[in-house]
Amino acid sequence: MNKLKLFISLTFIGILAFSCQDDPVSSTDHSPVLPDEPYNYMSVMDELESFVLPQVVTVGNNEIETNANSQVVLPGAENVDLLLESDEIVTLGRVLFYDNRMSANNSIACASCHQQEKGFADSFAKSEGFGGQKTIRNSMSIANPIAKRNFFWDGRAGSLHQLALEPVFNHIEMGMESSEDLIQKLRAEAYYKELFTAAYGTASITQDKIERALSQFVGSIFKRDSKFDEGLENGFADMTETEKHGMALFFSAETNCSSCHNGVNFASPTSTFNNPYAVTAGTTNIGLDMEYEDKGFASGKFSIPSLRNIELTAPYMHDGRFETLREVLEHYNDGVQNHTDLDTKLKRNGAPVKMDLTEFDLDAMEAFLRTLTSRTLTTDARYSNPFRS
Ligand code: HEC
Ligand code: HEC
Repeated sequence: MNKLKLFISLTFIGILAFSCQDDPVSSTDHSPVLPDEPYNYMSVMDELESFVLPQVVTVGNNEIETNANSQVVLPGAENVDLLLESDEIVTLGRVLFYDNRMSANNSIACASCHQQEKGFADSFAKSEGFGGQKTIRNSMSIANPIAKRNFFWDGRAGSLHQLALEPVFNHIEMGMESSEDLIQKLRAEAYYKELFTAAYGTASITQDKIERALSQFVGSIFKRDSKFDEGLENGFADMTETEKHGMALFFSAETNCSSCHNGVNFASPTSTFNNPYAVTAGTTNIGLDMEYEDKGFASGKFSIPSLRNIELTAPYMHDGRFETLREVLEHYNDGVQNHTDLDTKLKRNGAPVKMDLTEFDLDAMEAFLRTLTSRTLTTDARYSNPFRS
């Protein structure tokens, strides 16, 4: 080793030792572990292209009308902020999503309330955020958001880009006062210099860059590999008779489930995103109560959530009032309240619907809802915590 190299190495070790002592916050054990080559996220864009629910699905000799609303518009050139730009930007987003440096006292990350093993929801009715404060609503599962057009329980955000930073600043969740505070904190971490440079060509950190990376990571969370998706390809050959019975009920006029939980994501068919005249922002009232303490969008109207991965995301509803899918189904079967704004799809002859489902029907619908769980969402390394090595 020549003298110059030795000098450089010793200086480097010196700097390392110095920085470890000097700066206990960015200790070396808080660094993400990332693959040498970034994971492939861009493939999500290809998978999206043919992501549609047909109007009619064929099950053996039977045909089931799905009610699919063809208005669901997938991202295209006109929705640029929903497109994934590069694997490097999404990788940065992944680190931000899991980094507790995003909160004021390094205690909370997005992933605290959006956990991969819970379908990117959590298991609490209300989640604990910054300083032990509770969220006012149930944490939402992040399920194929790139194919969604209304976000939050009250449908208040129309695009991923718009909502990505909201939890950081406007919620009690993370306690950051301003984007300047956040940028200062991120600047202190050596790994962000590398990650921002890889993503954007320079190490400079701006709110816009944080927002783009976070929303693109969230947008990259995409799966179409549930038993139901496989069934679309193979005529539901692997579904049990019970699951098929549940599917027929789900898509039937008798239950009307698919008139609201519609299309590829089993979510709201309407959106504010492409339709500024949509006055309900994809929300509606399902008669949970006669009086709503939390009014949601207005008058007890809440976002029609996606049912993908619903098996993983208990408890249910905006306030997490139901522990199990069975309780949800029992609500629809005979618990719907006659609220003045109850959606007409849950009325029959002007009164709240009584579905008269049998125990077998309820079992079958529960079994069908379980076929909407992705086979790989909870284990895909691309969406996993990089701080856990
Ligand atoms: C303390 C818990 C908590 C933390 C931390 C948190 N969230 Fe959330 N998240 C929630 C809750 C609760 C909702 C529903 C809020 C509402 O509707 O008012 C939600 C909703 C969302 C949604 C909407 C999903 C949909 O389909 O409509 C997205 C996306 C989201 N959060 C992303 C993030 C990101 C990104 C971060 C980190 C910057 C984050 N969240 C941090 C609890 C949390
Ligand atoms: C009129 C529209 C409408 C119909 C019909 C409807 N839903 Fe819903 N569904 C909603 C809305 C809105 C919510 C959220 C309500 C809330 O939290 O206040 C919801 C919530 C749910 C949830 C809980 C989701 C979560 O993430 O917590 C499940 C499960 C569900 N519905 C299943 C069904 C099934 C099964 C049927 C048919 C029996 C059905 N829904 C019929 C609008 C509807």
